[in-house]
Amino acid sequence: MAKTPAKHRKNVKPKRNSSSSQQHSDERPEVSGKNHSNYQCALIFVILATGTVVTLGIAVIMRAGPDSNVHITTDDAEISLLKRPDQKESHSLPEKADKNVGTSEIKETEHRTNGLKQSSAHNHPKEFQETILKQLKPRDITVDGRLVKVQELIGSKKRPEKASIRVYQFEHFLSDQECDGLMRAHLRHVSVHSEDPIICFDSVDTLRRHLRNTQFKNMKITSEDFTEGTTCVNASFSKDLKSILGWSTSTAFYPGETKFTSIFDERVYRATELKPSNGGKYQITSYRNGIGYKTHTDCTIGNRDLRDRMGTILVYLQDVEEGGQTEFPELGISVRPRKGRAITWNNEDIDGTCDPYSIHAAKPVIKGHKIILQRWYYYQNFYMLGKRPSSEPDLPVRQELQPYVSCDEYDHGSCRWYDEWGYDHLVQYRQVKKQLH
Ligand SMILES: *[C@@H]1O[C@H](CO)[C@@H](O)[C@H](O)[C@H]1NC(C)=O
Repeated sequence: MAKTPAKHRKNVKPKRNSSSSQQHSDERPEVSGKNHSNYQCALIFVILATGTVVTLGIAVIMRAGPDSNVHITTDDAEISLLKRPDQKESHSLPEKADKNVGTSEIKETEHRTNGLKQSSAHNHPKEFQETILKQLKPRDITVDGRLVKVQELIGSKKRPEKASIRVYQFEHFLSDQECDGLMRAHLRHVSVHSEDPIICFDSVDTLRRHLRNTQFKNMKITSEDFTEGTTCVNASFSKDLKSILGWSTSTAFYPGETKFTSIFDERVYRATELKPSNGGKYQITSYRNGIGYKTHTDCTIGNRDLRDRMGTILVYLQDVEEGGQTEFPELGISVRPRKGRAITWNNEDIDGTCDPYSIHAAKPVIKGHKIILQRWYYYQNFYMLGKRPSSEPDLPVRQELQPYVSCDEYDHGSCRWYDEWGYDHLVQYRQVKKQLH
């Protein structure tokens, strides 16, 4: 494979306007604090500018020059997106003052898979005195004068004795206007990234398996097919793969980037007691026909870690004609997308261990377009939780605003588009991550 010699690599500066998970990873590790002050200034600017933007009252996308901000204004959810600060000089690894913090941050970026991955348990017995079920305390609330009632969802299967997971539902948790505003913001964020994505895989084997039974089946795939230092294929190969891969699409925004985040936080807190400061970014994901997401847990099976996702809230932003249910196969629970409907559940059992019974999937959409908002909550706040990463890796070399697709396994529904670049595709990063485990 042709490779660009390192010294000829252009320092890429993807200007981002927005942000995603993988389900992917949420809070990304800090690679270096160098851009922090830019970021903070920009953030302050955004906050100050918010009022002005609101009064405009129109939906605008401005692809502004470097160092300016992009505002997307919708009726209810006005989402200001920071242009990303310049890239770091390289794909350097997180600097860790404290090894434990570093380890957890890295864990934080892991794609949660179908529950097979094991990881070392971190025990904080004292800190786990508060149980998860105590932290997720769903109740009826009033929103703008209307009653939003909670209902516990009971599965069609007999509840496994060991299952600690409880799933609750709220109808009209978000108003139609809020849903519409969020959907518009998402679709605009996606459309700003009009470049074809660069596609990354969790391994050579995963790439091989995706190519089986396709026109590329005779291609001999080796690690040479990945752009040097990454597990991503180059732009032209990515383009070729577009026809054979399907993916869902995620964009994200962060606390304080829009008025909506505090409105949502307050509502979630009243309805569940999930603390705003323990939440990560806000991720909007859309699924077109035929697209779903494989079964997975939101936390890492076997993990007992205060920095894992202890609770999830998911809101459907519109109805889906057919398909697109959220299914918990172990509990026999299947939830149909319905505009404004929220579901929330705990992922960890009462002693804080990731519970395999929380396994769930997004069933493929059969007819319609599914769009959801999600936020994950952790036992405690930690460094970079809920903060937009201040830098991104500059590998592979890519165009401005070029998104990426991450295929983290071979399963159907394992590929997801993100407008935000992470580190998981960097070979060096993976090696260090392995050593830490
Ligand atoms: C891109 O990758 C493909 C597959 O590995 C390879 O055949 C092709 O030469 C590469 N193109 C460039 C421009 O590097």
